[in-house]
Amino acid sequence: MELTDVRALVVGATGALGGGIARALHEAGASLAVTGRDADRLAAIGEELDAPTFVLDVVDVERAAATVRQAVDALGGLDVLVVATGVPAFGPAVDADPVVVEELFAVNTLGATGVVRAALPHLDGGVAVVLSAILADAPTAGMADYSAAKAALSAWLTVARREHRRSTRIVDVRPPHLDTDLASHALAGEPPRLPEPLPATDVVDAVLRAIGDDKATEVAWDRRDGLVVR
Ligand SMILES: NC(=O)c1ccc[n+]([C@@H]2O[C@H](COP(=O)([O-])OP(=O)(O)OC[C@H]3O[C@@H](n4cnc5c(N)ncnc54)[C@H](OP(=O)(O)O)[C@@H]3O)[C@@H](O)[C@H]2O)c1
Repeated sequence: MELTDVRALVVGATGALGGGIARALHEAGASLAVTGRDADRLAAIGEELDAPTFVLDVVDVERAAATVRQAVDALGGLDVLVVATGVPAFGPAVDADPVVVEELFAVNTLGATGVVRAALPHLDGGVAVVLSAILADAPTAGMADYSAAKAALSAWLTVARREHRRSTRIVDVRPPHLDTDLASHALAGEPPRLPEPLPATDVVDAVLRAIGDDKATEVAWDRRDGLVVR
């Protein structure tokens, strides 16, 4: 897919990865629509990218579906969807507060799948890119429910990819620990000791390569080769 002139919706554009991907798509010539939870930060990135803005908390799945429709109308169609929303929580599995667990799944699993479900009918011939995490492949101590929520998201994306293989390419992005502030926005707990973070810009570059590569279905961490697009 040529990125010049594509119409792209970035959900979670006020985040580090979402903002980075939105800026990179803008530089590549894409027309953008962007969402975020915080109206002021969203307005700033919308102005920077000359993009229509939509305030959205993805936990509200009905509002998410309406937002996708409004963004498609504003863009005159949709070629690329990027879902970069997510939130972690930390601590031993046995100590997890059920309210926090519910929120983790509401944001990371149901919020993300709700947006993709709403966008798929508009993405014939297009690409949906969704941020899950390496935790889907490697569930990690101190992050039981965050790992489980991302694994559920990743499983859902695998099935949706099969069901839509003739119409829409679905790219599952599963990065390792990155140098963003994600951990400081945790719903609960302190992060366990994490490996040296990878620069988020590496993931932004890989996502742009994955969107442009007509065969790519994932961005994943490979122990030998590092971050791979395949
Ligand atoms: N950073 C890492 O180490 C890492 C590794 C693997 C995967 N990931 C995944 O990559 C994605 C982006 O993370 P990031 O590193 O860019 O962190 P980030 O800067 O904290 O971005 C997360 C974004 O999700 C948004 N968000 C959280 N809950 C939401 C909700 N209920 N409704 C709408 N938006 C919501 C945040 O909105 P606000 O701006 O309003 O808070 C923020 O824009 C996430 O899915 C994360 O799980 C990150």
